[in-house]
Formats: sequence, C-alpha cells, structure tokens
Amino acid sequence: MEKKVIRIGVIGTGLIFNRHFAGIKNSPDAEVTAICDNNVKALEEKAALAGIPMSQTFTNYIDLLDCGYIDAVLIATPNSTHVEIALEAIKRGLPFAMEKPVGMNVEEVQKLYDVVEEKKIKNIVLFFYRSKASARYARKIIENGDIGEIHHVYTEYYQDYNLRPFSLPTFWRFDKKIAGGGVVYDLSSHMFDLVTFITGLEYEKVCAVNNNIIKMRPDPETKQMREVTTEDYSHVLAQFKSGASGAFLVSKCCMGRKNYQRIQIYGSKGVIIYSLTDQNLEDTIEVCIGSPYTESYNYTKLNIPAEFKNEQMQSFFDIMNDCSDGLAATLVDGLKSQKLIERVYESAEKMQWVDVSDI
Ligand SMILES: NC(=O)c1ccc[n+]([C@@H]2O[C@H](COP(=O)([O-])OP(=O)(O)OC[C@H]3O[C@@H](n4cnc5c(N)ncnc54)[C@H](O)[C@@H]3O)[C@@H](O)[C@H]2O)c1
Repeated sequence: MEKKVIRIGVIGTGLIFNRHFAGIKNSPDAEVTAICDNNVKALEEKAALAGIPMSQTFTNYIDLLDCGYIDAVLIATPNSTHVEIALEAIKRGLPFAMEKPVGMNVEEVQKLYDVVEEKKIKNIVLFFYRSKASARYARKIIENGDIGEIHHVYTEYYQDYNLRPFSLPTFWRFDKKIAGGGVVYDLSSHMFDLVTFITGLEYEKVCAVNNNIIKMRPDPETKQMREVTTEDYSHVLAQFKSGASGAFLVSKCCMGRKNYQRIQIYGSKGVIIYSLTDQNLEDTIEVCIGSPYTESYNYTKLNIPAEFKNEQMQSFFDIMNDCSDGLAATLVDGLKSQKLIERVYESAEKMQWVDVSDI
C-alpha cells in the first residue's frame, strides 16, 4: 500500500524554522502545508522561502490547528508557549513534534505528559543532537562494551552568542518569564539528554553553579537596555547511579565558539571523544582503546558508517508510521529533562548536592 504523505503545520517561523523545513523537505514522507507565526514579517519571509501560499499561513495557531489540511504539528515557538500549544493539538487528536525544552516547569510538563499518555498521542521532543551520526555510533560502541565500564564523562558546550549585544533578533531568551532559564534550559538540557542517550548512565545527584555575567543587554527591537534574568553559564558536577562521575561545563560567553561541543567518555578499556565543530555542525568521533601498560596511546578518528546517519524530522515521521528505531526522544525524556533542569537550579540555589535518583 502506498504511504500517505503527512501534512505538517509549523507553528513558529523563527531561527530554527530553516533546519526543520529542510528536514521535512528532504523526506519523502511529509510536506509542509501550513505555517503560523504571530509576527507577520517573519511569517511572510518564511512563506516565501518555503513556497507556502499566504492563503495557507496563519497568525493565530488555533486557526492553523483547525485548518483541516494538517495531519501533525511542529511546535517551534518560544519555551513559554510549547505546552499550551501541544495541549490544543492533542484536543484535536494531532500528533506533535516539539522543540526542547518542553516547558517552563515540571508541573506543566507533567500535566502534558499525563494527557499524552491518556490520549496516546504520538510525539517527538527535538533533542537535535541525538540525530548526530557520531552520537549514535558512540552509543553503539558503548553498548558493545568496547570501552568497558565507564568511569568519567566530561562534557563541554560553548557558544559566544551572549557576548554579542545583538546576536539574536529578539530578547526572549534573556527573559526568564518566557525562556524559563538561560543556558541550563537551552544548552545543558541537550548535554544531559545526550549523555544519557550515548552512555545509558542514569543520574544520581548533581551539584551546580549557575551564573550570569552580563546583567543588562539592549533589546534588539526597542534598543533599550533591559535586565537579563537568565544565566550565561552553568557548571554541573554529576554522580551517576553506576558510580561514574561527570562534569557539564556550559557557557554562552566563550569567545570564538559558535556551537562547540565535546564529550569525553573514559572507560576501563578505552575512551570515546565525541565532538561537534563550530562552523558547520560537523560531528566527529575519536576512540582510543588500549591497555594501561601501553607506553603510547593512539587516538583514532573513526569513519562513521552510513547506517548511523539520521534526520530528526524523519524520526518523527517514522514514529507516526509505526516504523521508529526507538532512538528519538519523546515526552517521557522531555519530562525527565525538565525534572533534572529544576534540580540543577535547586542545587545552585542551595549551593548543595541535590538527589536526582528518582527521576
Ligand atoms: N533543538 C535545538 O537545537 C534548538 C535550536 C534553536 C532553538 N530551539 C528551540 O526552538 C524554539 C524556537 O527557537 P528560535 O530560536 O527559532 O526562536 P525565534 O525567536 O527565532 O522564533 C520563534 C518564533 O515564534 C513566533 N511566536 C512566538 N509566540 C508565538 C505564538 N504564540 N504563536 C505563533 N508564533 C509565535 C515568534 O514570532 C518567532 O518568529 C525554542 O523553544 C528554542 O529553545 C532548539
């Protein structure tokens, strides 16, 4: 039987739209049939880029959900709106792909999770880096037992965006009421999820320092100085249930870094180093498998087999078509992430280790 092309309505046509649109366009399984943004300029610009007639565009997301020519929805709006939009999609029986972080706090994400479980609505949470071939390959190497028992996971995620006054067209990422928080919501959430994805390790306790370096910034729209209520950096020590230890260094005030990620996983038999280069999101993986009695160690850059290549929007369509590889994040992962985020803030506030073993 021929597969039906899934008709996607996209809500939010900002910075991340281009990545999603390309992912949908490259899939034989879906097409974008409607888009929505409450900023008319952004809407018109992206409609032209995507070749969507203005008659299939909306400024109110409820109108898009009710348009009658979408089968699923992609939520790519600021964090404070994700849960409310997803709940409206569920009311209409529409599966959804949603950007991370899922929401603003555990309470609202738990509510969404409960509704999704009750109504059995298909979903994906777009923890993008799970789709990187090197992350998938590293996961396989660890699953095979090739680096042995994991002792340490050292994680770095650096950007320079917060050093530049007008690096973004809007202010919302610096406003806790809309973003929920700063780098912990935006970047650490990726790394916490990615480490679990690659290693299978579960968190036991965390100890965090979060802080903000730039206290006032110009609002790109009004050009007025405004108070920043989100953190610029976060350093988290983690203890895993297995006994392994971890560190998560994350900052948006690192000169010269655009989107630098590095995860070093040290095991009893070897090391894996996952990295993402700044310029073009090119991912690489190096391994060193050896014995402590060797005098010199060789780190080898691996060619990543084609079977590990993945596109996150395709993962959503596979979930909808019941042929998923089970590797994409869904709301259960989104809820875990939200709980971990909240405990990281609790730890930083109390300046104490905080237990996360129940997550
Ligand atoms: N997974 C990743 O790697 C990744 C990367 C970047 C952004 N994101 C996430 O994607 C989401 C969007 O980020 P962005 O950088 O594209 O932001 P953005 O500000 O560039 O775009 C958001 C768009 O949503 C529109 N919008 C706001 N409220 C709306 C509403 N109620 N109805 C319709 N449209 C509305 C805005 O006008 C804007 O055009 C955020 O949750 C962010 O965390 C994820």
